[in-house]
Amino acid sequence: MLVEVVDNYETLSDRAAEVVIQQIREKPDSTLGFATGGTPKGLYNRLIEAHEESGLDFSKLTTFNLDEYVGLPPEHEQSYARYMWSNLFNHVNVTESQVHIPHGMAEDVDSHCQWYERRIEEAGGIDLQILGVGANGHIAFNEPGSSLGSRTRIKTLASKTVKDNARYFEDQDMVPEYAITMGVGTIMEADEVLLLASGERKAEAMKKTLEGHITAMTPASMVQMHRFAHIVIDEEAASELDYQHHHGIVEPKDE
Ligand code: PGA
Repeated sequence: MLVEVVDNYETLSDRAAEVVIQQIREKPDSTLGFATGGTPKGLYNRLIEAHEESGLDFSKLTTFNLDEYVGLPPEHEQSYARYMWSNLFNHVNVTESQVHIPHGMAEDVDSHCQWYERRIEEAGGIDLQILGVGANGHIAFNEPGSSLGSRTRIKTLASKTVKDNARYFEDQDMVPEYAITMGVGTIMEADEVLLLASGERKAEAMKKTLEGHITAMTPASMVQMHRFAHIVIDEEAASELDYQHHHGIVEPKDE
């Protein structure tokens, strides 16, 4: 694992953007895995800037998103499809037919999940997967207890997640209880994962992820098994770590 601890959210977003921009410049037809949530917004703003200011080309990329709520059409304002189009895709030159986001209204969810896995394989696998982490240690919608070998499938959301989401919905009948998510096993097959975490709210999860046991109770801890996990976190998210990370050297904090 390469763990980089940076000052704050702004430097985290700068650093993440450098990694993603380098990937796109070196391999313009990369397959990229995208994530939603608050954490990657700064990264996406910087990618838009790089497109506008220096012509960063998205047209040859193939993209796969981690997850989507079941029951929300792509145009619903809380859907992850809508998030991706408004926070990134509408502002750059992606090729729409090469964008993949699980479909929340799929009639046959199981075959949709199998199709999604097949599309990733046909695209040659994911070169770089961007990841956030939940305060409970989840990655994508692989909540604690998820099988570490899991593939794309439907997952029941933790009751806390359902409750937390309720405030975003005028119509309480629309609050999702299920999501389609890439599995932990799917995510681990990416050539590189770039995991981002910012803020004190993530400190406990990052301690478990980086220094705890590999366990289904902290699905993000599987990054310890990955062949190239690149972790960029800010000082606050790193505040509970017992070890310090500096240019790839890892030492106990109190030495
Ligand atoms: P956040 O979500 O970026 O909004 O904190 C991350 C996650 O839950 O995976």
